[in-house]
Amino acid sequence: MWWLISSIMRQMEILDCPMGSFELARYPLRKKESLRAWDAADEYILHHLDHEAEISLDGRILILNDGFGALSVALAKHQPEMMSDSWLAQQATRENLQRNGIASEQVTLLNSMQALEGEYDLVLIKLPKSHAMLEEQLYKLRICLRDDTRIVAAAMAKNIHTNTLKLFEKILGTTTTSLAKKKARLVFCRADNIDTKKVSPYPVCYTLENTQHKICNHANVFSRDSLDIGTRFLLKHLPLEQEYQRIIDLGCGNGVVGLMAAEMYPEAEIIFADESFMAIASAKENFVHAFGEDRKAAFHVTDCLTGIDSEQVDLVINNPPFHQQHAVGDMVAWQMFQDARRVLKKGGEILVIGNRHLGYHVKLQKVFGNCTTVASNKKFVILNSIKR
Ligand SMILES: C[S@@+](CC[C@H](N)C(=O)[O-])C[C@H]1O[C@@H](n2cnc3c(N)ncnc32)[C@H](O)[C@@H]1O
Repeated sequence: MWWLISSIMRQMEILDCPMGSFELARYPLRKKESLRAWDAADEYILHHLDHEAEISLDGRILILNDGFGALSVALAKHQPEMMSDSWLAQQATRENLQRNGIASEQVTLLNSMQALEGEYDLVLIKLPKSHAMLEEQLYKLRICLRDDTRIVAAAMAKNIHTNTLKLFEKILGTTTTSLAKKKARLVFCRADNIDTKKVSPYPVCYTLENTQHKICNHANVFSRDSLDIGTRFLLKHLPLEQEYQRIIDLGCGNGVVGLMAAEMYPEAEIIFADESFMAIASAKENFVHAFGEDRKAAFHVTDCLTGIDSEQVDLVINNPPFHQQHAVGDMVAWQMFQDARRVLKKGGEILVIGNRHLGYHVKLQKVFGNCTTVASNKKFVILNSIKR
């Protein structure tokens, strides 16, 4: 037990900021974690809130895209609301509140598909990775802003581009930036030029090639404008003539893989899993549009396959992500393969697509003890492993 406790202690670090000192950890906890649960942009925002006399923390506060809950925890005594598209970010926030002895009710967690209601006095935005997601969020915010609502966004300076600032100007109004500190920068905006005739372009839809299926995508969904070339290659190599009872589309995005599997295997129940609320909402809308409400399917917003029963599934299909938020790495793929092995029945199989250089065959071999190549081209390889 001591090794577990000391391993967790190593993964926790202390954020010292004007609001206090807080123990924070990323989620999920990983052995040998080298990254902190906050960045210089979080620190910059918190110091700015403390130094800027005109900003009051007494009013209603909204935080968007808090990565692991650093802002929510530091501001918890002001009872902020935190909206995120990420299940992992929400879980990290819950655990970091608990770690610091703060009651969970101090922070209201909202997911990205929920509506915003009422007016906010202060809006803090950690800039999301996706420009489309920022665009959607700025449109969504408009109904909750007054002229005097303070809007402060933050990110590492390398992630703030001219078109980021233009987006704030176009959708909300006057936008300025701070000097960079520890390579982070703040963006200040006022909602003084809202044109209600302009509306969010999301969700965006395309028709899936060689089918009648309309695929709609909320703003934060992977490859939202067209079918990803890797996914296209994967769809050509779904196993033929099999009798599957239960199939999982793991990391489903807009659910296009599960949707095509549902067409190929009319008797199978399809389970969709993704950690993005917008992905699961898109997958559900696309699936119901294609098959109606009666076709058996389940939709889970979760980390990999957390919460899904063991040894119940015949086939897992997976196009793993190679980053978590801004951190690139194979940690999510590892977890996905291990979870897949757990939920598969004996004799069940996983089909994985990845860029050739990612070396997924080594991981699948380690997790399943076997791995064969189903197909490959210059860029991608499709691999299969069986649970023995
Ligand atoms: C490369 S995309 C594949 C999307 C879709 N299957 C396709 O082929 O178009 C990877 C997906 O994994 C999801 N994802 C990332 N981390 C995850 C996690 N920890 N648990 C579940 N899904 C995750 C992302 O939100 C994204 O939708």
